[in-house]
Amino acid sequence: MYGESAATEPMQIEIASATEDDIAGIQLAAAQSWRAAYAEIFTSDFIESFVGRAYSTESLRRVIHSTQSTFVVARSDGEIIGFSHAGYGPRGAELYRIYLRPAWWGSGVGDMLLTHTEAWLREEGYPGYGCYVHQRNAVGQRFYAKHHFVRVDVADEGDNDYLWKALV
Ligand SMILES: CC(C)(COP(=O)(O)OP(=O)(O)OC[C@H]1O[C@@H](n2cnc3c(N)ncnc32)[C@H](O)[C@@H]1OP(=O)(O)O)[C@@H](O)C(=O)NCCC(=O)NCCS
Repeated sequence: MYGESAATEPMQIEIASATEDDIAGIQLAAAQSWRAAYAEIFTSDFIESFVGRAYSTESLRRVIHSTQSTFVVARSDGEIIGFSHAGYGPRGAELYRIYLRPAWWGSGVGDMLLTHTEAWLREEGYPGYGCYVHQRNAVGQRFYAKHHFVRVDVADEGDNDYLWKALV
């Protein structure tokens, strides 16, 4: 699969299941993406503390090995440029997170990650899945709208919209 580099050279993007060797790269991508996406939504203290907890080495190790979820990474030249994580919990099938390093926003790599994640959800037999997105996260909202997610407002949580996508 291909993305496009700034120099318009075709660039090889690898999409694969995450391994423990990817943890440091996932942590870096998460921190960069969070700081850029939520700079005007959350305080920097909140962002650093949330990312530290949600992407701790221990919690990433646990979810990477879980059989109830899929953690997919995108690599370019061996470096992690983004990831997605989806699975099944009390709220049903859900995309828990999808983040790219800011330099890759708008590259279409998010679409590649989503395609891979949806293949897993289909194989597991889910007819659809949900996700939460902050009301003021314009980049995330736009991405989900483009990918045919629809808002189910009865399941909104605070400032987060609950979106649903049917897998046909
Ligand atoms: C959401 C994300 C994974 C999508 O991946 P992607 O490869 O950028 O997806 P797309 O190329 O389809 O771009 C989606 C939309 O983002 C917007 N966008 C892309 N690059 C942008 C940038 N640098 N600045 C602002 N908006 C941008 C555009 O509106 C684009 O829609 P368009 O192509 O119709 O113009 C990625 O943009 C990202 O990591 N965003 C920040 C984290 C985030 O919001 N995650 C979801 C949290 S719930």
